[in-house]
Amino acid sequence: MKTKITEMLGIEHPIIQGGMHFVGFAELASAVSNAGGLGIITGLTQGTPEKLAAEIARCRTMTDKPFGVNMTFLPTLTPPDYPNMFKAIIDGGVKVVETAGNNPAQWMPMLKEAGIKVIHKCTAVRHALKAQSIGCDAVSVDGFECGGHPGEDDIPNFILLPRAADELSIPFVASGGMADARSLVAALAMGADGINMGTRFIATKEAPVHEKVKQAIVAASELDTRLVMRPLRNTERVMKNAAVERLLEKEKALGANLKFEDIIEEVAGVYPKIMLNGEMDAGAWSCGMVAGLVYDIPTVKELIDRIMTEADGIIHKRLNGFY
Ligand SMILES: Cc1cc2nc3c(=O)[nH]c(=O)nc-3n(C[C@H](O)[C@H](O)[C@H](O)COP(=O)(O)O)c2cc1C
Repeated sequence: MKTKITEMLGIEHPIIQGGMHFVGFAELASAVSNAGGLGIITGLTQGTPEKLAAEIARCRTMTDKPFGVNMTFLPTLTPPDYPNMFKAIIDGGVKVVETAGNNPAQWMPMLKEAGIKVIHKCTAVRHALKAQSIGCDAVSVDGFECGGHPGEDDIPNFILLPRAADELSIPFVASGGMADARSLVAALAMGADGINMGTRFIATKEAPVHEKVKQAIVAASELDTRLVMRPLRNTERVMKNAAVERLLEKEKALGANLKFEDIIEEVAGVYPKIMLNGEMDAGAWSCGMVAGLVYDIPTVKELIDRIMTEADGIIHKRLNGFY
């Protein structure tokens, strides 16, 4: 399939794996790229520019296809060394960067000078337009369904994607709630040039996370996510578990007085415990409603091939059959 996104990124299929904290290591990124999509290493998971440089180099030994790096700008207690992380990306010869969480304007000149394509992930049309105006090459439009940070507007993709299509002149991919061929074809119908998946890619053989995380996604239904940190205007969609129930109790009890320090135990430093050790109640971890559409744990290649084959069937048989 050829779209503006496959052409822009030099990939075979219009499928991107979004950056995911403690999931987006070289194993997953290279598997997605080798299967013809765009794999993405999660920059901040590496913690330092040196470790990020090493992870990029490691990924390079696992694939000769293009892959990207995600750089997330979110409120953190100790800000990472962004300038040297971007330098590691450029020096590592990476040609695609996914930015998220805040306006990447300050990094655009150095990225553009290095010939890097910038895909900004955002949850509102106004932010997508801003990204377009500062020179981003594409946007990843992340609907309310998404795992991670859906923003504060709560607009689902059935509205957000056509709205983005109506306003944007740069290409965009649909993110949030994407799982299979139906997602891809629907996204294309609504004006997107591809899809970005998070949760679905965690439940694959190559995702370097604990088996319990994959099983939790397969076992979950579309009813099993919760929104946390809304009172802090840092809303995150997570899988429900004991820590999340406790966190929501605190939110209810403290109301507008809630401070980050009140929930630190449930959210700070929990990802390695969950993703690497499989301590499933250690804290809040991002997960999309799309967990309800995840029924198996295929290899990344099986997943991507299945999406592309079934998309062909939907377009040429089901849709064509209406005429
Ligand atoms: C476990 C997990 C961790 C994530 N971490 C990040 C992150 O560090 N930075 C980021 O930009 N997005 C992050 N995301 C969001 C994904 O990149 C992607 O936008 C989102 O998962 C899309 O929604 P979906 O889960 O419905 O596919 C994360 C998502 C999940 C599920």
